[in-house]
Amino acid sequence: MTRGRRLVVVWRVTEACDLDCAYCEFRRSRRGPRHSASAATALTFGRVLGEWQAATGREVLLSWLGGEPLRWGPVWAVSRELRQAHGLSLSVTTNGTELSQAGRRQQLVEDFAEVTLSVDGDAAAHEAVRGAGRHAALRAVIEDLRDRKAALGHGPVLRVNTVLRHSNLTALDALGSELAAWGVEELTFNALGGAPDDAYYAAEHLRPADLDWLAQHFDSLRAQLAAQGLRVRGSQRYVRRLEYTARGWRWPVADCAPGDRLWFVDEQARLSPCRFTSAEYGVPLAALTSLEALGEVPARLAAARRQRLTPACADCHSPQYFGKFALEGA
Ligand SMILES: C[S@@+](CC[C@H](N)C(=O)[O-])C[C@H]1O[C@@H](n2cnc3c(N)ncnc32)[C@H](O)[C@@H]1O
Ligand code: SF4
Repeated sequence: MTRGRRLVVVWRVTEACDLDCAYCEFRRSRRGPRHSASAATALTFGRVLGEWQAATGREVLLSWLGGEPLRWGPVWAVSRELRQAHGLSLSVTTNGTELSQAGRRQQLVEDFAEVTLSVDGDAAAHEAVRGAGRHAALRAVIEDLRDRKAALGHGPVLRVNTVLRHSNLTALDALGSELAAWGVEELTFNALGGAPDDAYYAAEHLRPADLDWLAQHFDSLRAQLAAQGLRVRGSQRYVRRLEYTARGWRWPVADCAPGDRLWFVDEQARLSPCRFTSAEYGVPLAALTSLEALGEVPARLAAARRQRLTPACADCHSPQYFGKFALEGA
């Protein structure tokens, strides 16, 4: 299996969520319909992905996203089946509430290659977003995952994702030190996104001066936290993308090599190059049931993109494209 060319399939399996994070489009209090994937679709597509992995020798990492993916009913059974019967590697981004049960944590350690837990800062900052008691509970979950992983001798990469906001940016090094002490191995970050007319976004979005600070401190922060055992993922290019957003500058991308390394699947079973283009370029999974069809995905997405560039491509915000997960500073 060639990990360097692995294919990451990010699947937003549900729009439902149990928490009410003020900044999030999936927060519990938001009105409107919520879709979820069907277990049958996940198993069918997972089987073809397994065949594709075996035929190409390229590892497939299937990464569950939401809403809250661990609250998607079939997630545990589907994950086990896809790993054991079809050899897929699994990843999940979660708020961790479903991991209060020891049995769930054990299955996570046994079945998953990566887990990303969301931490919004120190106890006060995290609980202001996610609710009272959630910081200590999440810390206990992470420390237990660390211990179970050590006991088993293998287990998922323990990663935290955090949302950078105007009021918490310069506390990033303190957050990193705290996470390293819990046993977290990797840290990724997003900038707060949202609509300008949203009060939370208006108060907390990153300003150009915040990005100047981040660009200046990124390399030293990464070195400082590496010395404590925490890898900070990301790149100066990614920081520059965040700066463009803060300044209101657009960053058009002529060719992102769509479908080359990343496929995004939404809860309505449409596969696209990223989460911003499901409606325009989405290919129904029902049309992707054979190895031949999977092999044609990059060409098919590229052709769709050549035919009509979406507004999203005229100001690309794909974190993966800009190196959110990079391990080098370039
Ligand atoms: C949408 S959540 C879904 C997974 C899971 N429910 C969780 O909280 O980790 C995925 C990540 O996006 C982040 N996020 C949510 N809304 C955001 C926003 N408006 N701007 C930036 N990041 C956001 C969350 O903090 C979380 O780390
Ligand atoms: S837990 Fe995740 S999906 Fe749910 S509201 Fe918070 S950030 Fe959004």
